Amino acid sequence: MKLVLAPLAGFTDAPFRRLCTEGGADLTYTEMVSAAGLAHGSVPTRRLMEIMPGEGPVACQIFGAKESDVAFAAREVPHYFTELNLNAGCPVTKVTREGAGAKLVGDPDKVYRLLKAMVENTPLPVTLKTRLGPHPGRTNAFELLDAAEKAGAKGIIFHARYTSQMHGGEVYLDLLSEIVSRATIPVTGNGSVLDAESAAAMAKTGVAAVMIGRAALLNPYVFSAIKAAGDVVRIPGPSLCAKHLSLLVEYRELMEARFPEDRVLSLDAFTSVKMHTHLFRYFSGLPGAAKIRARLGQVRSYAEINDIIHSYV
Ligand SMILES: Cc1cc2nc3c(=O)[nH]c(=O)nc-3n(C[C@H](O)[C@H](O)[C@H](O)COP(=O)(O)O)c2cc1C
Repeated sequence: MKLVLAPLAGFTDAPFRRLCTEGGADLTYTEMVSAAGLAHGSVPTRRLMEIMPGEGPVACQIFGAKESDVAFAAREVPHYFTELNLNAGCPVTKVTREGAGAKLVGDPDKVYRLLKAMVENTPLPVTLKTRLGPHPGRTNAFELLDAAEKAGAKGIIFHARYTSQMHGGEVYLDLLSEIVSRATIPVTGNGSVLDAESAAAMAKTGVAAVMIGRAALLNPYVFSAIKAAGDVVRIPGPSLCAKHLSLLVEYRELMEARFPEDRVLSLDAFTSVKMHTHLFRYFSGLPGAAKIRARLGQVRSYAEINDIIHSYV
C-alpha cells in the first residue's frame, strides 16, 4: 500500500518531510504555497519550496484562485518536485476569501480552468486535492473528478469529507469506492487514517494510495507502523524530538546560506517556536508527559531544549 504524507500548513516543512520519509512515507507534500505570493515575488513564499538533502519524493502544493497566478506558479515550481498539486479543499478563511481552497469545491468549472492553466505551464504531473462537496446535501465529487480528468490531471486526492465538516465527523468510504470505480486517473484517499486498521479500511475502497495527516504529527513513523501491519514502530519521544531538532538546525543553516538577503530566525527563536507548535507532541502518553510538555512550552533557547530532552532520556 502506497502511503503519503498530507500537506499540513505550518508543519510539512523540509525537516518534518525528511523525518516522515525515514518513517516510511512514499511521497510527501509541501505546505500549501500561495500562487499569488509567488506572482508578487514574496521571498517567504518561495522559501516554502525549498527541499533538503535526504528527502524522498516531494510534491509541491499551491493554492490560488486566478488562472494567471497558478500559471505563473506552475512555471516557477522547481522540477525537483515529482508533482504539482492544486489545493481545492482548505476551509481556512485566509484562503477561501480569495476564492481559493475549499471555495473551489463548489465550482468544478473553475477547478477545470485552474488545472488546465497549470498543465499548460509545467512538465510536472498536475494533481488535485479536494473534498466530496460543500456539504452532505451537495456532492460535487464526480464533477470535480470530471474537471480534473478533462484538464489533464494525472491524479486526484479526496479528503473523503465535505467542506462543512472541516476536519471531523464521518469519512464517506462508500462514496470514495464509487469515485474510484468511475475514475480513469489514480485516486488517493484521505481522512482520519491513524493506524493499520483505518488504513486497511481506506485501502479497501480501491484507492491507489492512502494519505495521512494528523497521525504523522504524533508519530512520523506511522507509515512504517502501518506497513508492518500494526507492529508498533515507534521511536521513543525524546529520541524523536532530538532527531527532529538536529534536522531543524541543519535546515536553518541551509536557509541562511541559500537566502543570505532574507532574515532567517535565530537558532533559539526557530527551535523554540517549533518546540511550542510541533515537537512537544512527541511526548504525548509518556510518563511525566504533562510536566515536560509544560516545560517545553516555555522554552526560549536551543540549549534549554537540549537540556530538557537529555535530562528526560
Ligand atoms: C494543521 C493542518 C494544516 C493543514 N494544511 C493543509 C494544506 O496546507 N493543504 C491541504 O490541502 N490540506 C491541509 N490540511 C488538510 C490535511 O491535508 C488533510 O486533508 C486533513 O488533515 C485530513 O487528513 P487526516 O485526518 O489524516 O489529518 C491541513 C490540516 C491540518 C489539521
